[in-house]
Amino acid sequence: MGTLKMPENFLWGSASAAYQIEGAYDEDGKGLSNWDEFVRIPGKTFKETTGDVAVDHYHRYQEDIALMAEMGLKTYRFSISWPRIFPAGKGEVNQAGVDFYEKVIDECLKYGIEPMVTLYHWDLPLALQEEYGGWESPRIIDDFVRYATFLFNHFKDKVTYWITLNEQNIFTNQGWVTATHPPGKFNDEKTFYQVNHHAFLAHAKTVLAFKNIIPEGKIGASFAYGPSYALDCDPINAMAKVDYDNLRNFWWLDMYGYGRYPKNAYRYLEKKGVAPEISEEESTILEEAAKKIDFMGVNYYQTSVVEYNPINGVTPFGEVNTTGKKGSEQVTGEPGVYKNPKNPYLKTTDWDWTIDPMGLRYACKEITSRYQLPIIISENGLGAFDTKTEDNKIHDDYRIAYLKAHIYELMKAVDEGCDVWGYCTWSFTDLLSWLNGYQKRYGFVYVDRDEIGGSLDRFKKDSFYWYQEVIRTSGESIEE
Ligand code: BG6
Repeated sequence: MGTLKMPENFLWGSASAAYQIEGAYDEDGKGLSNWDEFVRIPGKTFKETTGDVAVDHYHRYQEDIALMAEMGLKTYRFSISWPRIFPAGKGEVNQAGVDFYEKVIDECLKYGIEPMVTLYHWDLPLALQEEYGGWESPRIIDDFVRYATFLFNHFKDKVTYWITLNEQNIFTNQGWVTATHPPGKFNDEKTFYQVNHHAFLAHAKTVLAFKNIIPEGKIGASFAYGPSYALDCDPINAMAKVDYDNLRNFWWLDMYGYGRYPKNAYRYLEKKGVAPEISEEESTILEEAAKKIDFMGVNYYQTSVVEYNPINGVTPFGEVNTTGKKGSEQVTGEPGVYKNPKNPYLKTTDWDWTIDPMGLRYACKEITSRYQLPIIISENGLGAFDTKTEDNKIHDDYRIAYLKAHIYELMKAVDEGCDVWGYCTWSFTDLLSWLNGYQKRYGFVYVDRDEIGGSLDRFKKDSFYWYQEVIRTSGESIEE
């Protein structure tokens, strides 16, 4: 038996996102989203996969939530699809969409599973993109707040935990820098920072509205946090790390936690002519909201190494591994500032993601000392190829090893003074990986489908039973 244990009320969970699981993309009055359109552009996703059917959670949510209950899950984090609630992004409500989420929430509550709702996990109503460019316009701020407010009022007696935006750093970077997410803009840095500014304001105004409607509720944003390590003690690499963190991590974390941009990064962007405009009134709103968030949501997958990058060095654009062929990912960086070489001490997944369990403890300690905020790990998991045997078993010992090492580090973080409220694995069932199709699997529950289709039947993997035991023993079953 290990000596570490999580508290009794610890939120052992698992997470998903609407587009990646629901399917039913045009059913029961749902409006189209930016993703419904984007996936139809040839070459954008692995083997042209879409979430049209996904893993059909829309029709199988009862079966999925029953499996969660069987496992003993304490919380289930899922996202609400904005265009299912407001097909045009605003205006008329789609009652069938509201009813669907009400049923999902009631099903969770029936089993004593705490629903944790993400308001925005990347599926924007297409109508808003077409009308004013979506996040590119400040008009989105009030539309987002209206959407969020509707949900707060409707579900205030049933849902305590809310997440405003999922991985704002990722959807904006992919959307406006690398062109790999909608709206598919390439290298538009000025817009990237302005879009982020709108998203920060949408988040902040939503937090303020929330506190008036559900004062006892808990709210935060989920950030894709990849802590960084300097390559070595050469001061030029140590300086590159500081700059990297300010530009790639604290740009978001400081805004959620303090309501301001890191000064050095802002100055750098100002000189480059791409800093966002910020008014005094906006600063006040951002700072007020930062005082009111209840936790920092962290999606943790990997860390990075930082090395100085000469002005003629690598750019932010490099080959990304979406096929699972190890070693195809290229080194990227900001010319004249930093680059992110591979970490020779760590192994990687088949999709070239660094595996660094200790980095999770590092992330928690950094957040604790910098913001003194409670933490919810809103995602962590291993994307891997899984095989179903003839007798319908999935022996995913590699996933168990990955999760075990990460949870152990998380327990150490708690033991060392971090206030961690919950841990959600990514993901409960297998689901659509945005750019990597269905072959990159994350779940405890195998879904019989590939890039073309399948029976969509569910099968419990070995990791299902393993996590069940972790939850039952509050983590005590995990040994170092
Ligand atoms: C996070 C997202 O970036 O990581 C999830 O919030 C996503 O939606 C997960 O699926 C894993 O990423 P990927 O690219 O392997 O699907």
